Amino acid sequence: TVIDGKGGVLLPGLVDLHTHVREPGREDTETIATGSAAAARGGYTAIFAMANTSPVADNASITDLVWRIGQEVGLVDVHPVGAVTVGLRGEQLAEMGMMADGAAKVKLFSDDGKCVHDPMVMKRALEYSSGLGVLISQHSEDPRLTAGAVAHDGPTAARLGLAGWPRAAEESIVARDALLARDAGARIHVAHASTEGTVELLRWARAQGIDVTAEVTPHHLLLDDSRLETYDGVNRVNPPLREERDKVALRAALAEGVIDCVATDHAPHASQEKCCEFSQAKPGMLGLETALSVVVETMVRPGLLDWRGVARVMSERPAQIVGLDDQGRPIEVGEPANLTVVDPDAEWVVDPAALASKSRNTPYEAMSLPATVLATVLRGTVTAG
Ligand code: NCD
Ligand code: ZN
Ligand code: ZN
Repeated sequence: TVIDGKGGVLLPGLVDLHTHVREPGREDTETIATGSAAAARGGYTAIFAMANTSPVADNASITDLVWRIGQEVGLVDVHPVGAVTVGLRGEQLAEMGMMADGAAKVKLFSDDGKCVHDPMVMKRALEYSSGLGVLISQHSEDPRLTAGAVAHDGPTAARLGLAGWPRAAEESIVARDALLARDAGARIHVAHASTEGTVELLRWARAQGIDVTAEVTPHHLLLDDSRLETYDGVNRVNPPLREERDKVALRAALAEGVIDCVATDHAPHASQEKCCEFSQAKPGMLGLETALSVVVETMVRPGLLDWRGVARVMSERPAQIVGLDDQGRPIEVGEPANLTVVDPDAEWVVDPAALASKSRNTPYEAMSLPATVLATVLRGTVTAG
């Protein structure tokens, strides 16, 4: 195959640490096949499939199944994230060791799927996961502060009469999990950092020598709660879209390396689950096919990151965080490569109907975005473009 990459930018294949693929359980909204196609189109060669499937990915037979289906599809490596607890209410720690030792070689674990939010579960899981993999501070919100909340607790929500989700709900859990990680001598990865205060806490934790890494989503870099004015359910997401000053802090933190990487939190939902009244809509937005463009718009165009920096936050750092040895690094001559070829000068208008994802809940409908993926290559095979 010959790829005409003239005028293009060559990146190592992108790695997404946070994708919701709805298989098993909600194959009407995304399958491993459609999620993989969306990922390849977005420039990704590896994605991490969150554990909140149905059934929850809390044992090696499910994580190995997800991995195997991903390999059969063959468009991206689909690495399952393992849930840290088993039982309907997360009564017991999951067999993380079995998941780590299985065919999927699970590297990331999270509370996702059970949402137990229990500090003692987090403490024990951190102690147990040490040496096995990385624990995600997922659902980094205190449920006692977010009961009934649908939007960021700020002036917009107050004006529209929407129940507010305060920054403190996220920040208190980020602080809690960083301290528990410190005491356990374990690693913690903060999912979808969304506030200015979380950035300050990350800075503080790093200065203490706590082994903490963090991700930010493309939508928290680009969008804010002014989007709520329309009451359109497409803008409902967890954590909620925040305010201008949070965006500014998140962008600066990503440029500086206080936030390590970009992760999509790609969350497909059926149209009927998103078209209803704002507070009834399911939280979550698509992200895989627009992430690179949003990073170019929010980080490259304003001069906060160069293309070397894009490679760092979308490929190298995420690969390092989970210890993927075949992703996110320079390729030797003759080696089967994971690559993404980007046209940095192209502009495109987002058309939900044209997406490879099985769902349509993109918040960027009709928006013009910079940069297109010309080709994605997984171990020498063209998977998109
Ligand atoms: C997640 C999903 O749809 O799986 N949605 C989201 O807004 N991030 C679940 C969740 O984190 O609430
Ligand atoms: Zn989440
Ligand atoms: Zn998520």
